[in-house]
Amino acid sequence: MQKNQQQLKEEVAAAAVASLPDDLLIGVGTGSTVDCFIDALASSGKRIRAAVASSHRSAERMVRHGIRVVELSSLDEPLTVYVDGADEIEPGLAMIKGGGAALTREKIVASASEAFVCIVDESKLVERLGRFPLPIEVIQMAIGPVTRALVAMGGRPVVREGVLTDNGHPIIDVHGLEMDDPLAWEDRLNALPGVVTNGVFARQRASLALVAGQSGVRQIKASR
Ligand code: A5P
Repeated sequence: MQKNQQQLKEEVAAAAVASLPDDLLIGVGTGSTVDCFIDALASSGKRIRAAVASSHRSAERMVRHGIRVVELSSLDEPLTVYVDGADEIEPGLAMIKGGGAALTREKIVASASEAFVCIVDESKLVERLGRFPLPIEVIQMAIGPVTRALVAMGGRPVVREGVLTDNGHPIIDVHGLEMDDPLAWEDRLNALPGVVTNGVFARQRASLALVAGQSGVRQIKASR
């Protein structure tokens, strides 16, 4: 029988938990796949030294499970691993993230971690990033100029209705960008004044992807 998407998310979450050693200092991302990961982590009995969350949503879920959640700023060492989902991931393990509006904190926590394990179902695998509209967190007053710059780059920007991030900023979703060089796109978008964070994760690409499909969970390792 075909597994549905929820079953694939639970399967990849369980595989990620099984791959982790005890006594970790762990970074935890945001999204429905990460929700499965948090639940699986809590029921595994694995000892976690402390966790840093990339969103209020994930922090609250972990606290409900009795997982010790600390602020990133309270730590004087890197996190051992960051575990998060993605909206798209390509063969070089660059990703689009931010569908859940947590991209800025996700990028910060990922950058403070020694490894990034991306957990996805196979629907997220793409040859080239850009089918999923690229989320960009911006300072409110920059919406006009940033929008015009994105149009000049060939995108179709749409301000996400009724959404502010955990940092209090709006999100612009950009349709129609095809990113054959994710690193160049990430840097180019970061250079626009007023952009807080863009959802291209090429500098903070995953070191390992766990991908759940009908025949099980496979690993894709970063080539560099
Ligand atoms: C949150 O802002 C995103 O970066 C998520 O990682 C991404 O949207 C994946 O979420 P799902 O696991 O719900 O698809």
